[in-house]
Amino acid sequence: MAIMEKGTDIRKAAGIIRNGGLVAFPTETVYGLGANGLDPIAVARIYEVKQRPSFDPLILHVGNPSDTDQLYKDQDDPVIRALMENFWPGPLTIVAAKKPGVPGIVTSGMDTVAVRMPRNELALDLIRMAGVPVAAPSANLFGRLSPTMPQHVQKQLKGVDYLLDGGKTSIGVESTIVAVNGGKIRLLRPGAITTEQIRNAVPGLDIEPWEASAPEEEGLAAPGLMKSHYSPDKPLFIFGNLPAKLKPGSGVIFFREPSAIPDIAEEVIILSGKGDLREAAANLFTALHDMENNPFVTMIFIEQMAERGIGMAIMDRVRKAAYRHGGHDGTASVIV
Ligand code: TXA
Ligand code: MG
Repeated sequence: MAIMEKGTDIRKAAGIIRNGGLVAFPTETVYGLGANGLDPIAVARIYEVKQRPSFDPLILHVGNPSDTDQLYKDQDDPVIRALMENFWPGPLTIVAAKKPGVPGIVTSGMDTVAVRMPRNELALDLIRMAGVPVAAPSANLFGRLSPTMPQHVQKQLKGVDYLLDGGKTSIGVESTIVAVNGGKIRLLRPGAITTEQIRNAVPGLDIEPWEASAPEEEGLAAPGLMKSHYSPDKPLFIFGNLPAKLKPGSGVIFFREPSAIPDIAEEVIILSGKGDLREAAANLFTALHDMENNPFVTMIFIEQMAERGIGMAIMDRVRKAAYRHGGHDGTASVIV
């Protein structure tokens, strides 16, 4: 694979964005693959490098809430204002009606745009110095594992002009996405910011819950709901109780310190010794990448986690990662 230039030169990275190039950069959630969000040709390169279908729209990243004046049709909508004031900078993406100036390639022709202000100093410096909204999906090939470390980006992508190195990301799962429509919001993707937090911060808001079982067709209206996503290149199985007899080549990812380590396992990773869901989220994709990179591991087992707080986002990603190799009954492979 071609060597990708990597470093911490924000000035250089910002210049590349301004000139229509591609920069992979860290956010607090996962690494993003960024381009000038107002330059349709630069944005087209993101789709090309990611091998992403053009029906799947991108998130625009801003350096200040006021930068949304060129993006949202009604930046002063009270719900949008309340969400920005409470959760930006941070892992909340707000989808709302767009202004005509937002290129159609960013929104896949939809009349809404997704925007967020990340909580990561390198990302904010980059966006502010570039002086434009930065369109950025996660910096992985379409449908594959999201990157939480610079090496993950180097492993998957070719054709990136610069990789801004910020080490491992802190949250580890992608942002929560909500769509705002009148006084109502709808959860499109669970993330570190929970509906309970949103409810507490904006009292009286009508929140439509997220449909974990939404049919595939709905994936087009709310693309984050696609059933298969974030997949490792090996079969992945979710377990409640680990099978007593593991096959050779099994890699096991435990949520917390297990009572016994299966001795036949090829590799064992514990996401959080003390069973902390936030720590587990931060280590989730790194663990899956490590299993993918281990040539002796041919199948991966991952322990089921509680779907509370960030656990809802974790299990959403885990189920989607397991779906590809799952049963034909429309579910992920779960061993109980
Ligand atoms: O944490 C994150 O959100 C990361 C970092 C890099 O910011 N980005 C990220 O982008 O996860 P991506 O492209 O991998 O996921 C964005 C999701 C996609 O599922 C896309 O379909 C959805 O957001 N999306 C974007 N614009 C939308 C819109 N107007 N309406 C509904 N969904 C939208
Ligand atoms: Mg992604």
